[in-house]
Amino acid sequence: MRALDERIALVTGGAGGIGRAIAEAYAREGAQVIVADRDAGATAEAAADIGAAGHRAIDVTDAASVEAAIIATVRAHGRIDVLVNSAGILTEAPATAMDPATWAETIAVDLTGVFHCCRYAVPHMVERGWGRVINIASQLGIKGGRSLAHYAAAKAGVIGFTKSLALEVAEHGVLVNAIAPGPIETPMVAGITEEWKAAKRAELPLGRFGRPEEIAPTAVLLASDPGGNLYVGQTLGPNSGDVMP
Ligand SMILES: NC(=O)c1ccc[n+]([C@@H]2O[C@H](COP(=O)([O-])OP(=O)(O)OC[C@H]3O[C@@H](n4cnc5c(N)ncnc54)[C@H](O)[C@@H]3O)[C@@H](O)[C@H]2O)c1
Repeated sequence: MRALDERIALVTGGAGGIGRAIAEAYAREGAQVIVADRDAGATAEAAADIGAAGHRAIDVTDAASVEAAIIATVRAHGRIDVLVNSAGILTEAPATAMDPATWAETIAVDLTGVFHCCRYAVPHMVERGWGRVINIASQLGIKGGRSLAHYAAAKAGVIGFTKSLALEVAEHGVLVNAIAPGPIETPMVAGITEEWKAAKRAELPLGRFGRPEEIAPTAVLLASDPGGNLYVGQTLGPNSGDVMP
């Protein structure tokens, strides 16, 4: 018996660094995974590589696109047991000089995208009396970051949203939690200057960035029974010691 045998899991951002590692770990643990991401080709390729049960091109900022993906998944697989919200973007700009469009785009993807996916998936879980939602926040949502006010605000929003939704649906058997990783080696941080990365590494008690496969086991734990059964509205912090709340 594997940890996620027979679970149906939809992973947004499943073609990217952390989402893909989670999708891969879920498939290894016996789940039928649906990889959902923005680019249709990359999404299909990632799904094939990890042996996923399905794939879907979605834009999490577009409520209709998310609703269609959830309806198609429930139609094809009968239900959604686990939703992982890993789709996200990161840009840098000082708060007082930030183009409002940059602010709006980050909030749309990193915060409203999570709301959209939960808005359409969670009612199916409530109806069946079982579900797990795992939102990928960031430790920057707890500690903030220079030139990252938009990102930090969105991720702090994800943490508050996670707690609030958890309060609404725990009694229906649906557990909602977040993971707030520290810096992880993925395409998202590939563009950041080596100078910044060196300074960041020096700040970390572990002295190094994490790897996506070091986040995936936390997402397996939260989705598993009995391992995840008592986590409600929590934010787990695999973050190399960057934040100790
Ligand atoms: N890498 C890090 O250091 C780090 C740290 C903390 C939190 N996070 C969070 O982890 C999550 C995954 O990030 P990652 O590092 O794997 O980045 P990544 O860029 O490798 O993956 C992000 C994925 O999200 C998808 N995506 C972006 N916008 C989308 C949209 N509108 N609709 C659907 N899909 C969309 C991308 O196509 C990509 O595949 C993000 O929410 C990110 O904020 C990352």
